Order: sequence, then structure tokens, then C-alpha cells
Amino acid sequence: MAMLKGRRVVLGVTGSIAAYKSAHLVRELVKAGADVRVVMTPGAQEFISPLTLGTLSGHPVSSELTEDRAAGTWTDHVELGLWGDVVLVAPATAHTISGMAEGRGDSLLLTVLLSAKCPVIVAPAMDRDMFSHPATQSNLQRLRDRGVHVIEPDEGELASGLQGKGRLAEPERIRTELSDWFVQRSPLLGYHGLMTVGPTHEPIDAVRFIGNRSSGRQGLAIALELAKRGMTLDLIAGPIHLNFDHPAIRRVNVETALDMEAASLSAIKEHLPDVIIGTAAVADVRPSAPLSGKASKKDLPSSIELTQNPDVLLGMTSLVPSACLKVGFALADDDGLEAALRKKDTKGCDMIVLNSLADKGAGFGHTTNQVRFVYGPDRIDSFELKTKEAVASDLADVIQSRLSQRPPLT
Ligand SMILES: Cc1cc2nc3c(=O)[nH]c(=O)nc-3n(C[C@H](O)[C@H](O)[C@H](O)COP(=O)(O)O)c2cc1C
Repeated sequence: MAMLKGRRVVLGVTGSIAAYKSAHLVRELVKAGADVRVVMTPGAQEFISPLTLGTLSGHPVSSELTEDRAAGTWTDHVELGLWGDVVLVAPATAHTISGMAEGRGDSLLLTVLLSAKCPVIVAPAMDRDMFSHPATQSNLQRLRDRGVHVIEPDEGELASGLQGKGRLAEPERIRTELSDWFVQRSPLLGYHGLMTVGPTHEPIDAVRFIGNRSSGRQGLAIALELAKRGMTLDLIAGPIHLNFDHPAIRRVNVETALDMEAASLSAIKEHLPDVIIGTAAVADVRPSAPLSGKASKKDLPSSIELTQNPDVLLGMTSLVPSACLKVGFALADDDGLEAALRKKDTKGCDMIVLNSLADKGAGFGHTTNQVRFVYGPDRIDSFELKTKEAVASDLADVIQSRLSQRPPLT
């Protein structure tokens, strides 16, 4: 069940007699380490109280689109849809299944499902004749065609007294299928990555520093995409202001290039990576003699002597065997191709992800990026402007296809 540890599960509970089993299901998922947020349809509340599911999940249960009419507040269905690694609807009524098939948005749960970027799983529960009805079967087929995974109901005695197929799968089976499904979707399971992200800050005194505009957003998107595919990662992060947490990512916060170098090298000694990705914008130089405390304006020197920082990426690539895939990043203010090719060779990288400030919407401070994957003078893949998440997915595809050709190094 390790696959469920730290997974974010949005659990949709609908108005089926089997809704009572969702209490057991929440417990199973929480016990397996999942972070569960429950969304109930108003119909589901006829069968089980939000208090029960809220207590068991450890989070308030959402049910209505508007939270407080008088205050004009509303439940952020988009945020919930984006939060989950999966939306699991269990039990799923014929009514909600038909709403999903049609793309209706007349309950909070349906709007969450319409907003969700993550995969969706449904576990139908209903009377035998409702389940076998051509309308229900064709709705389920429409969902399958859209990539929704259906956990087949059990056969047996139904609440109506009839015998047949329609009984909600037992919570243990739902949990196991969910876990197996995560395994199937984790092609990088067993592989380990080491990444640097963000800028470094090189102190001039206790409050001032030399740094750069790197936000760490692209690096973080890559780390999350690889973790989503099952990879574990050591993430050595310079000072960035992006909050995230993922159970597969061990984050070490550092400030300076020297700290980043020390943390990266010690991470390699602890766990040999299958891939190294140097996205950090490491400061090339640091003040040779930082002042202690906060220097007053009149004590600030008119010039600052600088010392070259170590090459963090080169330090990492020279410590690992050739089977470890090494990915460098380069930011240019012109075409940058020649410099990227040089960087690839001098830093011992297999490829460079090149972006240029000359391209509108690329580089620091944007949510988008336009990159080229540079493998050699005659092998360059150019991409159009995309979100940083989409760039992360393109890079993860390349990493996945390379790593899948060999077993993990450790
Ligand atoms: C006692 C009782 C049990 C019900 N059980 C089910 C059921 O197991 N499956 C189902 O599809 N509908 C069932 N229904 C009907 C749904 O509650 C009804 O279609 C409702 O509109 C579902 O809304 P929802 O999908 O938004 O929760 C039941 C209704 C009642 C009164």
C-alpha cells in the first residue's frame, strides 16, 4: 500500500445506500497514508453525515458550491480539482455518472470533476437493473472512452433485495485497485533523481546579497512531474518562495552556492541518482569577505571583491557513473545555441535544456517557457511556447524513455 502514501485523493461520495461504506473507505485510505478530502453531493448527506467523513478524513467536508451565502463565499472547486492526484467517486450513483458523462455541473462534485486535471476513477453502486440499464452502461462506456477508470461493482445481494451486479466494491478492493492503478501509472518507480532548483544568494552582509531572478518554478514543475511518475528525488533548493510538498521529494533548503554544492554532493553519496538535473541558477561569484551584521550605509565599501563560486553541476556530474543521465539548463539572452553546446561538453551533460530571454514569455518570472533540448550540434528538438508544467512533461518523457532502457542504478 506504499503507493498511497502522501497521495492526494479527492473522494466524491454520492447519494447511494452504499454511502455508509465510504466511512470505511476513508479509514482505509487514511491508514494507507493518503491525504483525503471528501466532497459529498447533497444526496449523499441523506445517507451519511459530513461530520463522520470529516472526522475520519481529518478535513472539513465540502458539499455546496456556495459556502456562506450571506458572506458571498464559495467553495473553490477549481482549486480542489487541481489539488488531487486522483478524484475517486465511490459510491457513484447512476445520476452522478450520467452528469459526468454529459459534463453537467449541477453539484459541487460535478464541477470539481469538470475542473480536475488529474485522472478520475468511479466505483458505481446501484440496483441491478439500474446498473444494467443501457443508459447507465452507455454513460460508463463514455467515461471509459475518456480515460476514466471504472472499478466494477460486485455481484451479490443488493439493498433492494435483488441479486445481481451493482453492489459497491468492498472498500479494501477499492483501496487495492487504487494502489495498483497508481503503480501502473508510475513508470519511474524505483528510479531516483537529484535536482537543484532556484537561485543562490551570496551574502554581502547579513541582509544584502548577490542573487538572480530565478523563481524555481520550472525546476519545481519538473520535480513534481517526475515524482508523479513514481521517481523519488533529492531536491536541493535555493531560496525560492514556492510552497509544495510531495512524499517522494526530499527537499533540502540552501542559501549559497557553497551550501548547494555541499548538499548535492552529500545527496549523491547517500543515494546514487539515475538522473541529475541542474536547473538552479547558481551565482557565478560571491563576495570574498562578507561583512558581519548589517553594515550601515556609510560602512558599505565602494567596491566588493568577488571570488568565483564552484561549478555545482560539474561537481555533481563528475561524481556519478556514465549511466546516470545528466541534464543541464542554460539561459541565454541571445540564440545561445553555441554556448549551450559548449556547456553540455564542459559540464559533462547528456543534454542541455536551453531557453532564451530573447523569446517572449520564456525564462524568469513567467509561467510559460520556450525551450530547446540540445543533445548535440545535429540533434536539437525545438518546442513552442508552453506552460512550465507542459515543458516539465516533455522533459519527463525524454528522461522516462532513456531510463526505461536500463534498471535503476541502485
Ligand atoms: C434509499 C435510497 C437508496 C438509493 N440508492 C441508490 C444507489 O445505490 N444508487 C443510485 O444510483 N441511486 C440511488 N438512489 C437514488 C439517488 O439517491 C438519486 O438518484 C439522487 O438524485 C442521486 O444524486 P447524487 O448523484 O447527486 O448523489 C437511492 C435513493 C434512495 C431513496
